Amino acid sequence: MPESSAQLIDGKVYAERLRARVAEEVAALKASHGIQPGLAVVLVGDDPASQIYVRSKGEQSLAAGMHSVTHRLPEDTTQAELERLVAELNVDPLIHGILVQLPLPKHLDEKPILALLNPDKDVDGLTVANAGRLAQSLPALVPCTPMGCMILLRDVLGDLTGKRAVVVGRSVLVGRPIAQLLLQADCTVTIAHSRTADLPAVCREADILVAAVGRPRMIKGDWIKPGAAVIDVGINRVPFDDPIKAAEGRTKVVGDVDFKQASQVAGWLTPAPGGVGPMTVAVLLQNTVTAAKMQAGLI
Ligand code: GUN
Repeated sequence: MPESSAQLIDGKVYAERLRARVAEEVAALKASHGIQPGLAVVLVGDDPASQIYVRSKGEQSLAAGMHSVTHRLPEDTTQAELERLVAELNVDPLIHGILVQLPLPKHLDEKPILALLNPDKDVDGLTVANAGRLAQSLPALVPCTPMGCMILLRDVLGDLTGKRAVVVGRSVLVGRPIAQLLLQADCTVTIAHSRTADLPAVCREADILVAAVGRPRMIKGDWIKPGAAVIDVGINRVPFDDPIKAAEGRTKVVGDVDFKQASQVAGWLTPAPGGVGPMTVAVLLQNTVTAAKMQAGLI
């Protein structure tokens, strides 16, 4: 067995390509219809990871030529205040996409917020309306991370028809929508989760294995069918392996897949970080352009 058999899927390269295409679409939409796609991002509180994501969303939407507004609200924002902001953005003609960064602080309830969100501006694809449209193969705004995974899979594998796909994780944001997208691509799809019996054996059936559980390095090398395409959605912060660095309290990001082991078995593998992650914001920009076109009756 060679040291590393898997071909790595560099998400940064794909994301850059997608962002360039979105920038072209933004310019064309401005030139042809005078529409500048606008994205509003709402962040409540000061979670450090969320701050980084939100800054990146703002910067990248500006770089693509879009109108971009970031609302940073204090930690003690009330449910009513947040709902009032979403209601205003729902009818703001300059805003085509709204993203409320999750998780919200504990005293806020995300369900009523999402229920209020105009589904046509729901660029996260989190509303019941968009989940339902996706489940019925109707035109929908689709969650960004799952869509990013599909772009990578289609590029490296081509036609996905008939492939066995196993999705580990059943979250509303990733597991469920990616299972729907794989089904639409004519894969045979299994959704596995924490209660699945003999999870390693289920994973070993997969030509396409998507790990979206939020458990560091859970998927081991011997859970993977040789040659499979493995998509690691996990972003887990763990102490450094080096005990000196760990003792200093330093942490690093690892995926849900044991990268070292997987790289010796898989055919294709996304690194984490640097695989799926960069695709998420690029697809968010794409969704905002799609939303702007939909609202203008162009699609
Ligand atoms: N928090 C982590 N990922 C996401 C995402 O894709 N959308 C939103 N709204 N919040 C997140």
